[in-house]
Amino acid sequence: MLISLGWLTALMAGIFAIHIGQKLCFPYFWKDVFYLTRVVRYGLKMEIYKVTSKVFTVLDKFVQQAARIPHKTFIIYEGISYTYRDIDERSNKVAQVFEALGTVKKGDTVALLMNNEPDFLCVWFGLNKLGCSVAFLNTNIKCRSLLHCFNCCGAKILIVGQDLLGMLEEILPSLQEDCIQVWAMKTESSHPGVHTLLDKLQEAPALPVPAERRVTASLKTPTLYIFTSGTTGLPKAAVISHLQSLKGAAGFWAYGGTSEDVVYIPLPLYHSAASLIGIGGTIELGATCVLKKKFSASQFWTDCKKYNVTIFQYIGELCRYLCNQPKAEGEKEHKVRMAVGNGLRQDVWREFHRRFGEIRMCELYGSTEGNLCFMNHVGKVGAVGRSNFFYKLLFKYELVKYDMVKDEPLLNEQGFCERVKKGETGLLLSRVNARAPFFGYAGSKQLTEKKLLRDVLVQGDMYVNTGDLMVEDEEDFISFRDRVGDTFRWKGENVATTEVAETLGLVDFIQEANVYGVEVPGSEGRAGMAAVIIRPNCEFDGKKLFDQVLHYLPGYARPLFIRIQDFMETTGTLKHQKFRLVDSGFNPSTISDPLYFLDNGEKSYVPLTDAVYGSIVSGQQKL
Ligand SMILES: *[C@@H]1O[C@H](CO)[C@@H](O)[C@H](O)[C@H]1NC(C)=O
Repeated sequence: MLISLGWLTALMAGIFAIHIGQKLCFPYFWKDVFYLTRVVRYGLKMEIYKVTSKVFTVLDKFVQQAARIPHKTFIIYEGISYTYRDIDERSNKVAQVFEALGTVKKGDTVALLMNNEPDFLCVWFGLNKLGCSVAFLNTNIKCRSLLHCFNCCGAKILIVGQDLLGMLEEILPSLQEDCIQVWAMKTESSHPGVHTLLDKLQEAPALPVPAERRVTASLKTPTLYIFTSGTTGLPKAAVISHLQSLKGAAGFWAYGGTSEDVVYIPLPLYHSAASLIGIGGTIELGATCVLKKKFSASQFWTDCKKYNVTIFQYIGELCRYLCNQPKAEGEKEHKVRMAVGNGLRQDVWREFHRRFGEIRMCELYGSTEGNLCFMNHVGKVGAVGRSNFFYKLLFKYELVKYDMVKDEPLLNEQGFCERVKKGETGLLLSRVNARAPFFGYAGSKQLTEKKLLRDVLVQGDMYVNTGDLMVEDEEDFISFRDRVGDTFRWKGENVATTEVAETLGLVDFIQEANVYGVEVPGSEGRAGMAAVIIRPNCEFDGKKLFDQVLHYLPGYARPLFIRIQDFMETTGTLKHQKFRLVDSGFNPSTISDPLYFLDNGEKSYVPLTDAVYGSIVSGQQKL
């Protein structure tokens, strides 16, 4: 008895010592273990799917949840609750309508142009139930890009929300010429040739279509196409396979989410964050989500309190807008415990904690089309993720030296890239192999190929170029630094510089345009700026240029600043030199070239004076 007690004490002391030692030397040990076990568990599930050729998709999970917890609220939208069964049955109706018409078959792609609303999900799931892939169209993009989107994903049917039909007016004839069927979420339509879906849904049976329709044997089968703005102009359709959709759905769960959680989704569903992580994640947990048509800073906390929200999704800008709201009583009295998103800057992060309490901010890094993801599972301020020995076994990535001036990776004498040291900024590359395949873009081998780098560290290897500059510190925390090259982020959207440059180039007095993003104090991301060369014997016309960008570019892509140059600097490989331009910014007192500013009030580009500059950097002038 005595002996065993001694043994027990020794054991307890030992555990205590290990615990203290672990706290001192490896402060993140248990958090790492918790997170890694979940990653590994999920990984194993995927391996089993591969071996057995039986994939249990996110949609299968949804159907299962609808049977298991039919009366649980799945979506709350504008104060109305929809249960798992409601959404399941309505999506059955969508499937039945198209099944009866016989217009789609398994493997077809259908395009969806809709704002956030419950029917977005019903259409999406309904078509998936027929074995179709769904292409989410960005509701901001303009007609010219929209037409291009159909070509990339090969969709022959477009379903459009009732509030968005007006947007199509201009291109309806072109769509009909291309034999694209347009279905509006309306009961009647005054447009010739536009079909109506709502009236058909009222009459359709809510019975499920046979489950064989949606069965897939491979994780690699595409289920969605999500458009991302690319480096080569028009939007690219990233292929979302079941593998990616399953990974996205595991996000909340990996962070410790449960079925008790109430998720707040204020981001657009056509982006992967809201659809794959938000909706997918809610389904995975069997939780409830509050879907917002549009983010509203003034309604945010009222909504969170009203619905007992416990998790919300964000982009960096969203948290800044919340911090910029006037202070109110009881700002910390809410049930939110966790937020999942990306692009939160350190200063905003700290301010957010001060204002709204210790909400765990879970930064998540991973591009829509990428094969790598980082999660900041310990909540360290400023980091997008955390790596460690085991993580590196699972995900192969490298940070390599990058030449900012030449705008390309730095090569050594042997022609290979070089890894950066800890604490140095490098270009993030992600290894492509069987476990981390790269699905690329629909309809374009070229675009897919452009994202890949070969013979990076040794002959024959292959990596995805993420285009992101990152840094990894001594403690293995990974932080985002910047984007390279041809895209930048503004207002939560990627802006493709070449698309903007092409649009500017269509104006008669512009000979050449070089588009890039500049930092504006107090704003996330980068504001668009264009260095342009005026054609000989022509003059800059601010009004004309304003009309052009207003008509052809979505709000976030319009250059806020114009810089008139006499000649265009290029790099050794004849790309436009951006680095120096980005660096010199838009301050009229340090730049001798004429500068202009997009003035929405004046409806023109107006000279960027010191006074205008002052009002922008002080935050007086809204951008
Ligand atoms: C939120 O939680 C409170 C207290 O736990 C409860 O009384 C209330 O009914 C809940 N509200 C909703 C909308 O679930």
